[in-house]
Amino acid sequence: MCGIVGYFGKRKAAEILVDGLRRMEYRGYDSAGVACLFDTRIDVVKTPGKIKDLRARVDAADSVAMREAVQGIGHTRWATHGPPNEINAHPHLDASGRFALVHNGIIENYKEIKSGLAQHGIQCVSDTDTEVLVQLVAYCYQGSLERAVSEALKKVKGTYGIVVMSDHEPGKLVTARCGSPIVIGIGKDETIIASDASAIIPHTRDAVYLEDYDMAVVTSGGVEMFDLQHAPVNREVTAMDWDEDAAEKGEYAHFMLKEMFEQPDAIRNAIRGRLDFEMGTAILSGLDFSPRDAAMISRVLVVGCGTSMHAGMVGEYAFEELAGIPSEVEQAAEFRYRNPIITPTDLVLAISQSGETADTLAAVREAKHKGAVVAGICNVVGSTIARETGRGVYLHAGPEIGVASTKAFTCQVAVMLMMALKVARTRRLARHDGEELCRWIDRLPELAEAVLRQNDAIKAVAKKYARCDNAFFIGRGYLFPVALEGALKLKEISYIHAEGYHAAELKHGPIALLEEKTPVVALLNNVPGKDKTLGNAEECKARKAPVIAVVSAGDEGVADGFDDVIVVPDCPACIAPVPTAIALQLLAYHVAAERGCEIDQPRNLAKSVTVE
Ligand code: G6P
Repeated sequence: MCGIVGYFGKRKAAEILVDGLRRMEYRGYDSAGVACLFDTRIDVVKTPGKIKDLRARVDAADSVAMREAVQGIGHTRWATHGPPNEINAHPHLDASGRFALVHNGIIENYKEIKSGLAQHGIQCVSDTDTEVLVQLVAYCYQGSLERAVSEALKKVKGTYGIVVMSDHEPGKLVTARCGSPIVIGIGKDETIIASDASAIIPHTRDAVYLEDYDMAVVTSGGVEMFDLQHAPVNREVTAMDWDEDAAEKGEYAHFMLKEMFEQPDAIRNAIRGRLDFEMGTAILSGLDFSPRDAAMISRVLVVGCGTSMHAGMVGEYAFEELAGIPSEVEQAAEFRYRNPIITPTDLVLAISQSGETADTLAAVREAKHKGAVVAGICNVVGSTIARETGRGVYLHAGPEIGVASTKAFTCQVAVMLMMALKVARTRRLARHDGEELCRWIDRLPELAEAVLRQNDAIKAVAKKYARCDNAFFIGRGYLFPVALEGALKLKEISYIHAEGYHAAELKHGPIALLEEKTPVVALLNNVPGKDKTLGNAEECKARKAPVIAVVSAGDEGVADGFDDVIVVPDCPACIAPVPTAIALQLLAYHVAAERGCEIDQPRNLAKSVTVE
């Protein structure tokens, strides 16, 4: 979703801003812009479309500020209020052109503020909620930019991460957050503000993460932080540990392909040092649970969105099967608004690759209010959910840039299994069964490698079906969430209408849609439930739908009579989601590639959904 960058230092701002926006492209956007302040003049260049279009416009601009300024702000916009055109793109200026602002989030009471401004003769020119905010800052200005910003923010309902500058006060950037992340990178003689560490990493590793209702003022004297009442606040400088190369595609055609092939290493990193073979358990120090704490848990509630929610569903099965604890997964938005019943012995797990998803964050806050024990499963270190939960497990999967989540999913499943194992060992799971599970979790990277070796075979299957308009994925047990995830991957990147269904549910409606051109991917791994799903796949075949059978190695006979086969390693049911999901990721990728789709940045999608 939208990306923010701000720069103040000694180097040419426009170049750094455009490069920062390029590094945040993966978040998903549909227009972009930069504003630079030179001397006492702000120049803005914006455009619908991609960063390369913005770069061309910046290079062609007849603007000293674009060439010389050492101070500026930039933005990639994922349209919410008004279409993605030049007027609605950020940065926005006030009516005098003396204040410029970029904003992530949503100003919910913008209509009310807009009509208040109109009564003072201030008219907005764009459809956005953001322009209202910059007009309000200008209206509140009485000689101090930070005071004007805090006055304006006190009138605002909604979420924001903003950076503001004004030609009244060159050499100053003001930033603030409520609900949308802001990271401040502190370099030598320069400061880079961004909504995402990826724009900061090439310049410095030292960063400060703002908390909600924090403001920061950046000048040549350094960074000062306040709350909205101007009382100083202190936020620690932390070292960001992401490797710059990890955010580059290298030899791969797409980030998604690279990230799929990184899965063996990513899973290795996720499980490293966390398996205790001797005691048959997992060591998850970030969870901060003694065996007694773990034994007290009466229910596990997992909240998340999208792919993360699917990984949570695998966790649900594992907690119930291994630990015998009632467990539920809920879409985070539903959880936050339905007044959930929570008891003090409930463990709420918030699962989020980015750690910034608005609904998952709100679910965390709701669960905390209701007194639950809340833990996070995040990939992005220092992200808001990781910080607000205060305890949890990082994936250590490395940056995931492709919008369609791949390595985060398999690492989330690995972490979920380790969590379930840890809790299960305080309950009914015997030491030798725990040891056995440790061995299987330890083999996940090898199983991932085995599937990746099937890349060419899966590509051949993908080519056959690349022109279909609809597809179904069916599975049961641990493979039901994998069917949902397989369908999600396909629709996200290939735009084929795909549905994941419980194999048994197909008969209750969707089977009416089956015909010769609608393939069904049937997850027929050699795990409990296989025979039942096999019957369901036969029913599809009887309706002339082509069936792609996903089967376990050594059990290939199951695919007899079906149209195509994908072979994955034989493994226990709770382990099967990892290799099976990788096979379906590859299938979706090759279908999308064959259709010529823009795989890393699919239309309308955002990597990190920071609005509800
Ligand atoms: C977006 C992304 C998905 C992701 C979901 C949840 O929709 O496109 O890939 O699964 O958000 O994101 P999170 O960062 O919370 O895992």
